[in-house]
Amino acid sequence: MATEATPDRLASDLARELEVMLEIEKFPPPEGFRESALWSDPAIYEEAAADPVAWWTAKSKEVLDWDVEPTEGLNDSNPPFYKWFEDGRINASAQCLDRHVAVGNGERVAYHWRGEEGERRDVTYAELLDSTQRFANALKDLGVEKGDVVGIYLPMIPEVAVAMLACARIGAIHNVVFGGFSAESVRERMEFAEAKALVTVDGARRKGKTAPIKEQVDEEMGDLASLKTIVVVRATGTPCPMTEGRDVFYDEVCAAADPECPAEPMEAEHPLFILYTSGSTASPKGILHTTGGYLTGATTTHKYVFDLKPESDVWWCAADVGWITGHSYIVYGPLANGATSVMWEGAPDYPHQGIWWEIAQETKATILYAAPTAIRTFIKWGADIPARYDLSSLRLLGSVGEPINPKAWLWYHKVIGGERCPIVDTWWQTETGSIMITPLPGITATKPGSATTPFPGVSAEVVDEKDGTPVAEGQGLLMLERPWPSMLRTLYKEDERFVETYFSKFGKDRYLVGDAARRDSDGYFWVIGRIDDVVNVSGHRLSTAEVESAIVAHEKVAEAAVIGQSDPDTGQAICAFVTLNGGVEPSEEVMAGIRDGVAARIGKFARPKRVIWADDLPKTRSGKIMRRLLRDIAEGRALGDVTTLRDPGVMAELEKQVAAERENDD
Ligand code: PRX
Repeated sequence: MATEATPDRLASDLARELEVMLEIEKFPPPEGFRESALWSDPAIYEEAAADPVAWWTAKSKEVLDWDVEPTEGLNDSNPPFYKWFEDGRINASAQCLDRHVAVGNGERVAYHWRGEEGERRDVTYAELLDSTQRFANALKDLGVEKGDVVGIYLPMIPEVAVAMLACARIGAIHNVVFGGFSAESVRERMEFAEAKALVTVDGARRKGKTAPIKEQVDEEMGDLASLKTIVVVRATGTPCPMTEGRDVFYDEVCAAADPECPAEPMEAEHPLFILYTSGSTASPKGILHTTGGYLTGATTTHKYVFDLKPESDVWWCAADVGWITGHSYIVYGPLANGATSVMWEGAPDYPHQGIWWEIAQETKATILYAAPTAIRTFIKWGADIPARYDLSSLRLLGSVGEPINPKAWLWYHKVIGGERCPIVDTWWQTETGSIMITPLPGITATKPGSATTPFPGVSAEVVDEKDGTPVAEGQGLLMLERPWPSMLRTLYKEDERFVETYFSKFGKDRYLVGDAARRDSDGYFWVIGRIDDVVNVSGHRLSTAEVESAIVAHEKVAEAAVIGQSDPDTGQAICAFVTLNGGVEPSEEVMAGIRDGVAARIGKFARPKRVIWADDLPKTRSGKIMRRLLRDIAEGRALGDVTTLRDPGVMAELEKQVAAERENDD
């Protein structure tokens, strides 16, 4: 059937053509930018490649003030358990706070915090140091010791940085859980990590409403034996239950604590934090980062990828602290560099759709780092909204979390960047700790949609799936070819899974990223997406298995298969194929129950956008669900090879089901 040529369709066809064409169009650094950039000479790449370990060691000593400087760079005697700067001693909180205060920068604003209801708090480095010392002592008073795990489940308020830095100060390992995860997810992460304490809030605000967080936490955490203490930050004044002997208020323990807590220099390889992320199975992976190498990566990349000048820049990373982007580029990188940052509590559309631009104008933000999904949302709302604000302070833009489609790139460049700001599209992962593939804004000619080339000292390759040899043209597996300081050290308490997941395919010195990519004739990398069962919804990483297990927990569900479907707004969206128990009829009510169940078990952001009822699922003879075929069905593509199916008739049924779904939508 011929497709109707509506104006919308014509426009989207044109956009697609333009996208293809743009692969050959480059955007060199604007002259004015290049002249004043920290790095403008491409020789930096060769300098780093000549001896990457020596280069990283020199960078580490440049951006950090070690208490004891390391004499050694990389210890690769037991791959893939690499160690960096092993005999060095350093304290992350002292790097982020004390050293700036010591040189007279205590009055510099660390965070311009903006609250949802218009509240303003400008927190200086001196204030942040004071709060961190008090809370570090409070944690000690509560029995938290070096090496203990402390959970942090907080919204975007300055106390989240205080809690992380207080842990770092005393050598406790923080385990932050994104505020959008449900209390049940928090429990799971606390249980896996055997957290001794949890820092949370009475209530969290979201778009004018308040969620009773402490109450929800209590419902899940009641019987967790390892958890001795819950510290409650009074953020909203929401009344909340407090358990005698276990729960304390943050303000009260801080007031009672000694104001001085000297930072203890830690071994470079002392664990700094665990951050759970999704993998191929339902059980999240506890990515473990250590102190010296992680700080080196986060601080060096923050300085040079974003050309950061701490005296004059106002930095805004619009991620949530609960993800790695927030760890590296809201807390550790910017604070270690002595930057002034913006921290925004809320959503991009509350109290109005211009709030980001209002904040950028008011704080005179100079660098903005955001996710493509946010940019696509702003495109939908219209260019007239940012046009109402003065965004002339911006000089550099960044993108992270998912591939940025050239259309969104161009809009960002034009509407937000006024065509004068370079864009750095930064590719990296929770595992890598810091940015790995990225343009350097004073050097690289960018191409919309490509993260361009590896950061100096990093080596990446696209390889053949079968034998691991480099692929000159076309798609292959993205690999990182040598260790780097901020790499994950292991999966917390799961060394074997660590080796198996990342280092079993092509050897212990080659890190398997889990993304497909290709390189173009200029050697630029184009990241295509995940090769495993990980879905990227609005830059939030989810495992299909995790969502499936939440769906099958519903009493009326027999089986479920989840896939990521491409989505114009969120990049990918969750699409679930669900088989109900015999005798149960599909209904709106069951659908709502399934979606609510996912929200309760994982978080609202994981709710399936689309549920397709399936009498049966396509399986191989050995019983494995063929997701490839489900993806074809969901995307409306011609079906791939069905000959390996146990029952090829299943596909015809599913196609009927999808057609019925479409009719219902109409
Ligand atoms: O698939 C890649 C995608 O996000 C994955 C990592 O997700 P996470 O660990 O949650 O970290 C996100 C923030 C660093 C990657 O495997 N991804 C991240 N950045 C990009 C990207 N895909 C394309 N382009 C990017 N710039």
